[in-house]
Amino acid sequence: MIKNPSKTLNFHNNYDLLKTEIREYFIHVYNRYETLFECLTEQAYYKRADPLRHPLIFYYGHTATFYINKCIVSNILSNKDRINPYLESTLAIGVDEMSWDDKLQDRDNWPKVSTIKDYRKKVFEKILNVIDSLPLIEPINTKSPWWIIMMGIEHENIHLETSSMLVRHLPINMLVEKNNWSLLCDSENNILNITKNQIINIESGDVKLGRPVINTPTYGWDNEFGEDLFKIYAFSTSKYLVSNVEFLEFVEDNGYQQKQYWTPDGWNYKSFNNVNNPRFWKKDLNTGNWYLRTLLKEIDMPWDWPAEVNYLEAKAFCNWKQSKISSDVNKIYCRLLTEPEHTLLRNRFVTDDTAANHGLVQQSPCSVFRYNQGELNDIVGNVWQWTESFIYPFNGFEVHPAYDDFTIPCFDNKHNLIKGSSWVSCGNEIDINSRYAFRQHFYQYAGFRYVITNNSEYDIKYNSNNNPYETDDMVCQYIEFHYGSIYFNIPNYLKRCVEECINFLGNSIQFQNAIDIGCSVGRFTFEFAKYCDKILGIDLSARFIQVCYNIRDNVNLIPYVIPIEGDIKEYKQINPVEIRNDLSISLDDCSKINFLQKDACNLPLSEYNNYDFIFCGNLIDRLSDPKIFLETLHKRMVIGGILVMTSPYTWTETYTTKENWIGGKKISGEDQTTLQTLEILLSPHFELLKVKDIEFVIRETKRKFQHTISEMSIWRRK
Ligand SMILES: [Fe+2]
Repeated sequence: MIKNPSKTLNFHNNYDLLKTEIREYFIHVYNRYETLFECLTEQAYYKRADPLRHPLIFYYGHTATFYINKCIVSNILSNKDRINPYLESTLAIGVDEMSWDDKLQDRDNWPKVSTIKDYRKKVFEKILNVIDSLPLIEPINTKSPWWIIMMGIEHENIHLETSSMLVRHLPINMLVEKNNWSLLCDSENNILNITKNQIINIESGDVKLGRPVINTPTYGWDNEFGEDLFKIYAFSTSKYLVSNVEFLEFVEDNGYQQKQYWTPDGWNYKSFNNVNNPRFWKKDLNTGNWYLRTLLKEIDMPWDWPAEVNYLEAKAFCNWKQSKISSDVNKIYCRLLTEPEHTLLRNRFVTDDTAANHGLVQQSPCSVFRYNQGELNDIVGNVWQWTESFIYPFNGFEVHPAYDDFTIPCFDNKHNLIKGSSWVSCGNEIDINSRYAFRQHFYQYAGFRYVITNNSEYDIKYNSNNNPYETDDMVCQYIEFHYGSIYFNIPNYLKRCVEECINFLGNSIQFQNAIDIGCSVGRFTFEFAKYCDKILGIDLSARFIQVCYNIRDNVNLIPYVIPIEGDIKEYKQINPVEIRNDLSISLDDCSKINFLQKDACNLPLSEYNNYDFIFCGNLIDRLSDPKIFLETLHKRMVIGGILVMTSPYTWTETYTTKENWIGGKKISGEDQTTLQTLEILLSPHFELLKVKDIEFVIRETKRKFQHTISEMSIWRRK
């Protein structure tokens, strides 16, 4: 039997028992979700509580359609099993993330509450039937149909929390106090009696983030799998979450009116929305008394409860605090926790049976002084804690094919992780590995604790981790071309280019100073580095160069997306560590590889010269004036240096006006090929050593490819 249905299930190997537990877990979570919606009057279902989200009628139906849609996409059910195709289409995808000044289009044809109620009953029966008929005879893993059932349950747990936040935005007169949702924790209301926060020193330590891919003991979302390692500097942090009374100091010191404390986005958000205090604080202008809007009612301000704010407000508070405690002589920094710091605290102080305000053991936040966990309070539970960390994929991250838009859109360095869970968090949300991230202006049941340190650096990965999900079509296409799959058995083009050069020059060749002009996302530069003391890759596109840096310097995966057909995408990733290993690039090698964003047609001769190897891969037909480029090449090279050019000579006026084409046209009535012009232009200073065709394939969609024959010419500087 499930001892505590608020926590997620442990995948033990007594399969009969586990099947019963999953069945009960499903029933429990499904019904618990219903109890929240019973607090709504009919009109509350249709009132848009937050202009950035759908009305609650959507979320009432959404979690049920999710079960059906995910079971169909995973072949547990078939299309014939659909209960209401219209609902299963229109309620499938929620509104996740938008900017704070967006507006969601109104929709007036929402289904009736009774229709959704009836639909939910049918889904309940259908899924129960699936659970009863599915055999459970081996360990549950991400490929198992049971994973999909768990996905549906945990998805509903998430929406219980996010929907309850939407309920909190609704007018009180649209709500009814039911099912214990209005029971509140006691508060020590006397503002004068409240203990001040304390600062606790935390020793340095190592932290490993991520859950194992194989033999995971519980359900986890895709973003939790894989691994990342951190060394954490010693730091100090507040013993308690910042309480309402502590946050009041910031409000009363006019913190909301002083731009210097706010990030640019924070100030824009604050100004646009005319925000002067946390969203659920209300002030009686006659008496000056503060009140707090809870889920279903308004109460006297519970000063010892945690302040619930968004990231932008938490960050402004930290900046304000820093200005109070820091001086020019003694610089002190105040900021939020990072993800690994929070995990360090959790590993160090929180035991499995720690008492905490989570899992709906209570129906509201509670005093920050109530739950002591080792040296701190509320490391887990009460309200979530905003962190400085953006969500990013761990090494080993793999998208779950049944839910490929769960995390990927959040890898954009705009979604900050919240850690620790809240009073309403259930299931996976309470798990130490859970990673939920929201845009900085979003409100959840989240507050913060601050870090005090004299070290301005922290988790350098986060500062340098420019690892957004790459969606730029051209960049993605070239990542796939350089590092992705092989198509039609045609070998990797850049690798072939290196092999052809080395086969011709001999593999004992060693260049002192090489340059790859038009390096794109860097494969040739990396591949060729072992034959050079020093190599520079340059490209006009900063986006390409950014990929090169990430491959050279980072450990985090580089996710990218390529088209399958139309709007359907395939999510892929490259792993910089694996690429460096595959190419046998050591740390020493990395130090001799550099990349710069430069225009090949505008490279100062005084700086870019003295090369003994130049590679121009598929470059000359992309230059605005190839003749000028070619005529200065010899000045950049030492005598005996090797020049390698490849090009399919696809002249087009997109890149080169016709008068500047150096081939592919008639000159004096005769056909002039590019190779002929190259010989004319280069022969005064170069000897042509070899010409060879090299083919390559670039994928456009799953069903459309460019198959190109490039001509390689190898020259020696005379
Ligand atoms: Fe959802």
